[in-house]
Order: sequence, then C-alpha cells, then structure tokens
Amino acid sequence: MDKALTAIPIENQYCIDKEPYYQEAGSEISLYEAAYQLRIPMMLKGPTGCGKTRFIEHMAWRLKKPLITISCHEDMTASDLIGRYLLDANGTYWQDGPLTLAARIGAICYLDEVVEARQDTTVAIHSLTDYRRTLSLEKKGELLQAHDDFQLVISYNPGYQTLMKDLKTSTKQRFAALEFGYPDEETETAIVCHESGIDAEMAGRLIQIARHARNLVGHGLSEGISTRLLVYTAQLIVQGIAPIAACQMALVRPISDDADIRETLDATIQACF
Ligand SMILES: Nc1ncnc2c1ncn2[C@@H]1O[C@H](COP(=O)(O)OP(=O)(O)OP(=O)(O)O)[C@@H](O)[C@H]1O
Ligand SMILES: [Mg+2]
Repeated sequence: MDKALTAIPIENQYCIDKEPYYQEAGSEISLYEAAYQLRIPMMLKGPTGCGKTRFIEHMAWRLKKPLITISCHEDMTASDLIGRYLLDANGTYWQDGPLTLAARIGAICYLDEVVEARQDTTVAIHSLTDYRRTLSLEKKGELLQAHDDFQLVISYNPGYQTLMKDLKTSTKQRFAALEFGYPDEETETAIVCHESGIDAEMAGRLIQIARHARNLVGHGLSEGISTRLLVYTAQLIVQGIAPIAACQMALVRPISDDADIRETLDATIQACF
C-alpha cells in the first residue's frame, strides 16, 4: 500500500484527470488563461455557490496543472500554510505545508475564503505574489523560489466583508480579479440540467423562484439563492420529492429565518407549481 503510494509522483496526486463540468458565463476562461500564462495571481470574487471552485478545478484540468486547495479559517496559522517540524520515532523532520508544497511542485494553489485567515498568514503570501515569487520558510532557514508553473489564486466573497474583516490593500493589489455572479437564465438552466438530470422546463421554474429571491437581496435577504441550492433542489426533485417540498427545503429554508421573507417565497413557489 505504502509502496504504491510513494510510486505516484506527488504532483500527480493533485492532478485532475476527468474534465470538471464548467459552463462559461462570459470570457472568464480565456481571461484566466492569459493571467496564468503571465503567472499573475488571481482573485475570484463572488457570492457563495456561484461556481468559483468549479471554475478553478476546470482551469487546473484545462492547463494540466496540479491543484492544491486550502480552506482558510480564523484559527489557521502561518505554519498551517507553510509547514512545521514534526516528531516521529526517528526524531524531528520537516513537513511542508500545502502552500509550500504548491510552490515546490508548480501547482495552482487555491486559497478559499482567504479573508477568514489571520493577518499573519495573508502577509506570508506577499513575497510569493510579487516579482520575487519566493516563500520564506523561517523555521527551516530556507528561502524557497517558487516553481515556474506555480500560481496563487484566492477566493473572496465581497458580501461577507466587514470593516473588521477585509483584506489589506497591499494584499488585494497583488491580484487581478475575475468577478463571478449568478449566471444568466440560459446558462443557469444548462448548469442545473447537467448537474441534476432534471428537464429544462422544470429547471426554468426553479430559476424563476431564485430570480425572485435574488431581487429581495438588500430588502430583508442578505444573499440570494445560489446556483448550488438550485442544483440541490433539482436533485431532490429527480429523486422523487414533490417540487414544492423540495423548494421549501433546499431553496427557502437555508437562506432565511425571517417569517415574512419565507411567506413571500413560499407564495412564489405555490404560484410556480
Ligand atoms: N458555471 C458553472 N458551471 C458548472 N457548474 C456550476 C457553475 N456554477 C455553479 N455550478 C454548480 O454549483 C455548485 C456550487 O459551485 P461552487 O462550489 O463552485 O461555488 P463557489 O462559488 O465555490 O461557492 P463558495 O463561495 O461557497 O465556495 C457546483 O457544484 C456546480 O454544481
Ligand atoms: Mg468554493
């Protein structure tokens, strides 16, 4: 078992073999490809569930580069990203963190929800995202020069930012940005049909409900119904759940606890079916 694992080069373990389905909404594929050719660090902006993760998986597959994804959280330390010394029966040894590994093997490194990470961790990426392309492994006394293929990509949900939690300007201005939003009706129908196997007519109805809810953003709703929730709803219907129950469960209940909003959306659902 161990032998089989070590026989696989580490970069291959992070390669995506099968094409991840991604429906393009604009010209983000060619824009991203151009940025990758120049190794410009990228920021993917947009609300939850609108295809950012799927997009980067698709692009890594398209460019035939390994992809290392790191979900950032507020307890994440710079060592979690960069690496640390560990102890085993033979003594101490250095273990690269995921960011270091990505820089070494020439992967695309996707830092998901980077704003959640502590400031010291975001500062750790500064030297990797300017002309230096280096990462200082201070504890190890190594200055790592990033592999030519390495690129850093971060995701950022502008809706979540507050005055307390935002990226420093000096961090933001190290990235070019692609903005993601809810796709147009035709694109979203194609996505929902592909991901669930539902027919286009039913997908269209679900999308009408979502569009109605998206108009309520800022009027009692903090974020709209995501494409992800539309996919869940369609999958439930394909499983045999009645459309109204599926919509209430996967479209309305997750996004609001407000009785008025629920009532309005439940009425929209009743009207749709
Ligand atoms: N353009 C798209 N092409 C294909 N599938 C999509 C697209 N947009 C959304 N989806 C579907 O929506 C789901 C959620 O998308 P994804 O996980 O990429 O969202 P995200 O933007 O990364 O969300 P989060 O900010 O919460 O991480 C996907 O699993 C996929 O089924
Ligand atoms: Mg994501």
